[in-house]
Amino acid sequence: MADLSVDFLGIRSPNPFWLASAPPTDKEYNVNRAFEAGWGGVVWKTLGSAGPAVVNVNGPRYGAIHGPDRRLLGLNNIELITDRDLDTNLEEMARVKRNWPDRALIASLMVPCDEESWQAILSRVDRTVCDGMELNFGCPHGMSERGMGSAVGQVPEYIEMVARWCKQHSDLPVIVKLTPNITDIRYPARAARKGGADAVSLINTISSIVSIDLDHFAPTPTIDGKGSHGGYCGPAVKPIALNMVAEIARDRETYGVPISGIGGITNWRDAAEFISLGCGTVQVCTAAMTYGFKVVQEMATGLSEWMDGKGYATIEDFRGKATRNVTDWQYLNLSYVTKARIDQDLCIKCGRCYIACEDTSHQAITSMLDGRRHFEVIDEECVGCNLCVNVCPVEDCITMERIEGFDPRTGAPIPAEYTNWTAHPNNPMRKEAMQFAPEPMVLENEPAE
Ligand SMILES: Cc1cc2nc3c(=O)[nH]c(=O)nc-3n(C[C@H](O)[C@H](O)[C@H](O)COP(=O)(O)O)c2cc1C
Ligand code: SF4
Ligand code: SF4
Repeated sequence: MADLSVDFLGIRSPNPFWLASAPPTDKEYNVNRAFEAGWGGVVWKTLGSAGPAVVNVNGPRYGAIHGPDRRLLGLNNIELITDRDLDTNLEEMARVKRNWPDRALIASLMVPCDEESWQAILSRVDRTVCDGMELNFGCPHGMSERGMGSAVGQVPEYIEMVARWCKQHSDLPVIVKLTPNITDIRYPARAARKGGADAVSLINTISSIVSIDLDHFAPTPTIDGKGSHGGYCGPAVKPIALNMVAEIARDRETYGVPISGIGGITNWRDAAEFISLGCGTVQVCTAAMTYGFKVVQEMATGLSEWMDGKGYATIEDFRGKATRNVTDWQYLNLSYVTKARIDQDLCIKCGRCYIACEDTSHQAITSMLDGRRHFEVIDEECVGCNLCVNVCPVEDCITMERIEGFDPRTGAPIPAEYTNWTAHPNNPMRKEAMQFAPEPMVLENEPAE
């Protein structure tokens, strides 16, 4: 059976599945139950400075986007950091750490952006209460208006400065949790590295209004007739998170920086995708809030079985394997030509592919043959966009097939060799000779292709 254990910054955990800092990790009771269920680690709900704790709203704090089957696709929240006092949290963390020595326990921190405040909290957070710290530069609501959370995460200079203070005033590993509410995620990641941070984690939640209550004309969740933006997470944000992880994983300035992947991870497959982009651990919040702590068991079993099937004995055997296949558009192979193929035995003749292609793509699907509904691809029109594959309700009914030699649509031969945009005749910025994608970077201990 595959070995799921990981060593992230010297912090060991029996599997890569950590609970993200959020309600599931708000207190000892929860964390004990999470560890009993099998979670490899937790990032405790974000701690603030000593003194009066923050105050949450006393009404609804969540909004949601559901699929047609009412499955939760996206979750929005206006919750703040922990509203329990620092001493209570630290006492509970110390007890949990003593009782669960084989699990990872990370303290998430958010205090005002001055050195004294950081020094003060760091003096309370040591190896008796946790194995490492995560700096919450991510929450986009409530705390950001007070100059914390994403207000720090959106300014690379602040990230660098605070990361440096934390490295100076503590000997714990430092993980910087990044906000996705920024144009280019590479800048904050580079700043974290420059400040000496040991790792980055991402993503925190995305600024959002999930819906407007049309009876009261107010955003949801609504507190006494008003709403404010919240932080969006859950399955809907996974694509954004994967892209941001990939950007950091393949950036020459941050290549090799340990990453804890977060954002919409709901099952083992999501986790494997983040790991294949280089993540050393993955963090989960919405899936645990939706399905309970035991969801980790399916995640661990599924990942382990998939690894066995592929012949991967450890997480390191496939970690980062997808990073080298992420490239810039200009390097994609323009000699790669595909056409859609419809399996007539699987087709239920619903016509969705026809409508999609007819109205919004390339009029490349027939709808009738001899007076009967019949859906077939016209190679002379098909550009290979695969829209039909994505709208077809029957899995694998439409597939894409690579063709070689001659493209009936263009009437031109298909080059046998790789070509790309860099030297294409239509490219006004074309180069004399075709440019190839830079060689992917490879670390010494990275698995071979
Ligand atoms: C209700 C709620 C509260 C959260 N509180 C925190 C927090 O205190 N600190 C933090 O770093 N992230 C917080 N998060 C963000 C999560 O840790 C995580 O980054 C985000 O939800 C994305 O993961 P997911 O898609 O698995 O939920 C919170 C998320 C939710 C839903
Ligand atoms: S691949 Fe695109 S162009 Fe071809 S049939 Fe499907 S939708 Fe039409
Ligand atoms: S969408 Fe799929 S099932 Fe429906 S007609 Fe097209 S190929 Fe057949």
